[in-house]
Amino acid sequence: MSGGSILLKGGILITPSASIKADIKVVDGKIAEIGAALNNAGVEEVLDVSGMYVFPGVVDEHVHMREPGLEYKDDFTHGTAGAAVGGVTTVLEMPNTKPPVDSATILEEKKRLLSQKANVDFGLYGVIHNTNAHNFDDIVAAGAVGFKIFLGPTTGNIPPPDDGTLYEVLEKSAKYDVPLAFHAENADLVKYFTQKVRSSGRTDPSAHTDARPPICEEESIRKLIILSKWTNGRVHIVHIAAKEGVELVREAKHMGYKVTGETCPHYLLLNTEDYKKYGTAIKVNPPIRDREHQEALWKGVLDGTIYTLGSDHAPHSAEEKKGDIWKCAAGFTGVQTFLPLMLDQALKGRLPINKIPQLMSENPAKLFRLWPRKGAIMVGSDGDFAIVDPNGTTTITKEWLIAKYPITPYIGWKLKGSIRYTILRGQIIAKDGKLIQPRKGTFIKP
Ligand code: NCD
Ligand code: ZN
Repeated sequence: MSGGSILLKGGILITPSASIKADIKVVDGKIAEIGAALNNAGVEEVLDVSGMYVFPGVVDEHVHMREPGLEYKDDFTHGTAGAAVGGVTTVLEMPNTKPPVDSATILEEKKRLLSQKANVDFGLYGVIHNTNAHNFDDIVAAGAVGFKIFLGPTTGNIPPPDDGTLYEVLEKSAKYDVPLAFHAENADLVKYFTQKVRSSGRTDPSAHTDARPPICEEESIRKLIILSKWTNGRVHIVHIAAKEGVELVREAKHMGYKVTGETCPHYLLLNTEDYKKYGTAIKVNPPIRDREHQEALWKGVLDGTIYTLGSDHAPHSAEEKKGDIWKCAAGFTGVQTFLPLMLDQALKGRLPINKIPQLMSENPAKLFRLWPRKGAIMVGSDGDFAIVDPNGTTTITKEWLIAKYPITPYIGWKLKGSIRYTILRGQIIAKDGKLIQPRKGTFIKP
């Protein structure tokens, strides 16, 4: 397939269960051998990674790279280059592009288009909205990793299915074991609170948080748990921002329901105090919330309630991100800063380092049925790695970010650790902040 062989020498493998010093040999894109002092006979390239941490390549299950149709915000070339530089070797691309990925034909077209541009491997979500549930089987057959279902209003304004349709879709999820990723905010409540807060005359950025209070998430997540209970459908609540969300997922897990949860770095690193510093830049759906929510999310990450992390990479143009909080678009770039930010937290002692491969590689790969090809350092797995110097540092700058509009609250942040190499199926695709081998990515399916 990709050909060639590489030996990674002297690194410390960081897996969900342990940190072990070992060499890794990758042949024809797959991990062929793992062990102490591996022989380099017949190996084309030897990479000395002594003292460095070798992570499985990150699987970012939540990116919106905007292609096709919204290239004025950003595109797949920039997005996947940022991924590569940031240690992400697989991205799962969301379906709220234009047109939305609501049929097998559109998924096939998106797959063809993105295949010519991919700098890292990619999978595609389909979407289920109010009128296309009959396309479920065809979209699965076309190779979707799963579906995104938008219950709350957000970028793209894709209308949610009604409850009967949701029930039916969850039954199909159970039948085919296909995960459903939910944007869980109650649309009517969001509308009600938005009108209320807006008509009060508020224009400060934190008004966005009050326009989408925790009850919106709580109601929506509780309903999804009930639907999962009765159908056995696989419900994955993405971008959980409210403590009620963490509590509900914890309870559902205890009950043995097929319910999992994702949160994102911004909900762990930011709270409503930060509107003062960053203004509309941190407008995102669901909103950044008060410190008590941030703390509950950390607890959920540490005790295993939160199953995955995703970046929710959601770029917009400078024009769309500035000005009035009510008009400003929700979301910001995140794929390139995803691993650096979490690595920094780990190196500062906030997060056990082995949680990184668990929440950012293994668990997303398992959930979307890509494991152990992706998300694992095991013989036979794809040779995908993020190689990190734990003694290095990373400063997030506009120049470092690969994006049409490098808008993020993290500009100027100085982080512990630096990503030295990103390796995709045995090939070094990025080195020290630069993409060195473009377009090595390929479409992947469960
Ligand atoms: C996302 C986007 O812009 O595509 N925005 C966001 O605020 N998270 C859409 C979404 O996932 O809600
Ligand atoms: Zn969403």
